Amino acid sequence: MSLYRSRIAGTGSYLPEKVLTNQDLEKLVDTNDQWIRERTGILRRHIAADNEVTSDLAFQATQRALQAAGKTAAELELIIFCTVTGDQVMPSSACELQNKLGCKTIPAFDLSAACSGFVYGLAVADQFVRTGMYKTILVLGAEIIHRYINYKDRETCILFGDAAGAFIIERAKENDANVILSSHLRAEGSLGDLFVLPAGGSKIPFTKKVLDEDLQYVRMKGREIFKNAVRTMSACCQEVLDQNQLSAADVSWLVPHQANWRLMEAVADHFSFPKEKVVSIVHEMGNTSAATVPTAFDVAVRDGRIQRGQLILLTAFGAGLTAGSCLLRY
Ligand code: ACO
Repeated sequence: MSLYRSRIAGTGSYLPEKVLTNQDLEKLVDTNDQWIRERTGILRRHIAADNEVTSDLAFQATQRALQAAGKTAAELELIIFCTVTGDQVMPSSACELQNKLGCKTIPAFDLSAACSGFVYGLAVADQFVRTGMYKTILVLGAEIIHRYINYKDRETCILFGDAAGAFIIERAKENDANVILSSHLRAEGSLGDLFVLPAGGSKIPFTKKVLDEDLQYVRMKGREIFKNAVRTMSACCQEVLDQNQLSAADVSWLVPHQANWRLMEAVADHFSFPKEKVVSIVHEMGNTSAATVPTAFDVAVRDGRIQRGQLILLTAFGAGLTAGSCLLRY
């Protein structure tokens, strides 16, 4: 039995100013706007400026989330920073952000689950609130993934962009129905080679060979990823609904990982969910890894689609392979 429940106090997001359109990509690789639109639904992506680091994007999203929640950074008790493209290997981006926010000594850590990072982070935040350890938590997904993309590889460079999305999670009052209901997480390490960033870890430390062989850039088996993503995200959605004895018809909005519109449509089809109720902003930002779910959620809150009291289903899938879903009443 949990002692407490958690709720979303406020959300915020940030997309860098610079935009990379399909037409811009036509000048870099052998591709075209029509192919990209038809295969992915992506029209443009936002790219961080040369002097921006991941914790800068996170800082902007956090300020907006704090404002929406009516809170100050001084009220935060924990920072969970979900990313695979942090400012550097160490110190963590969470510590960098803690310093920028000026909330001295509160615990802060990075969480690495690639594109599923935010759904994992939200589940972790929920557990900390349920046990009574913390009352107010910042959980966010932020990525500057374009620095790990090879702009000579047409199969990956069309997909990705940079963004940050943040939630302020707080302990709910006793009879509040607007709470996180449950999360469902999974991982399948045996399929890890489908999407990798080879260099920079203990397996392939940086040497000249890395640069000669372009091992500093992401590599992906796109078609395999697509099939696994559809299968796994739809299963995760069904599992979290079953756990709560609810059906797809009870859900107001599905906010899936924004990798590709065709992929999101296929997930919805797989568990008989209407496509009109799928929140998609993939046309505007492409795949921003751990930032996609909180950013899409925040955009839909701000444009009035997501409203208080509605049942919202989040799902994500990423390198690892990792996946998850979270059911909440906003
Ligand atoms: N422009 C033009 N042609 C291209 C491009 C491009 N940018 N990229 C590939 N092609 C070509 C291929 O070379 C291939 O040519 P061929 O038939 O002569 O061999 C043809 O287009 C079809 O390629 P496919 O790989 O079969 O295309 P598909 O319909 O599978 O779409 C895509 C590719 C968009 C990458 C899709 O598989 C996808 O979105 N997969 C998921 C990838 C993903 O989201 N990765 C992120 C990591 S994990 C996550 O976030 C979920």
